[in-house]
Amino acid sequence: MDFINKLILNENQKECILNINKKISNVYPPDLYKHTISTLFYTQKLAEKYILKDDENKESEDFKKNQEVYYKLCKIALLHDYGRIFDAEELKKIALKNKDEINANQEDFEIDCLLHGFAGAFIVRDEFNLSDEEILNSIKYHTTGYCNMSMTDKIIYISDKLEDGRNYKEVFYLRKLALKNINFCLLEVYKNNIIYIINKNKNIYSNTFKIWNNILKLYGGLTDGSRR
Ligand SMILES: [Fe+2]
Repeated sequence: MDFINKLILNENQKECILNINKKISNVYPPDLYKHTISTLFYTQKLAEKYILKDDENKESEDFKKNQEVYYKLCKIALLHDYGRIFDAEELKKIALKNKDEINANQEDFEIDCLLHGFAGAFIVRDEFNLSDEEILNSIKYHTTGYCNMSMTDKIIYISDKLEDGRNYKEVFYLRKLALKNINFCLLEVYKNNIIYIINKNKNIYSNTFKIWNNILKLYGGLTDGSRR
């Protein structure tokens, strides 16, 4: 439980995070729990750079506002993969039941790896009594992304794919980028993900190219100044 003291949270927030942790640590398989805590710490790294700025007065209204965003990020990081503990049939049922609220086509529900996000958000809403739309949307789209992503969602999308437990060829380059320019990093992580899916002959989410074009339009002109 020592991870809790590394988080920049007040006592009430810590208690809430510990309650979530108690529940997930009992139901997540060890690998999923490890990935979750690692995602939480990667989220913290990015939040410290892009949300909680060093030079901010800890008593200022701006800092308090940003700290609330950071607190939300902690909850999302812990719960983003909650849907993974349910089987595909169960997830499909939940996603179909809520299909009007999900920006996806029916055939997207055949893509198993997307279902844990789409359906996971509704499960988290009910099991953790969470109604915050930002938290639920971030969980819903953490695997697919969406057009014009918020900073919170960029941080979750990237942390999920770059946390310290991830081990693939491009991850070292992408981690360097994450701390240099989060927008350019998003573009590179998204691109890397599309290439991975195609190389594996896996089904691709129907909105992927729309989202890619949106990321390209917003950030295509960026570079990190030191390309591979
Ligand atoms: Fe994840």
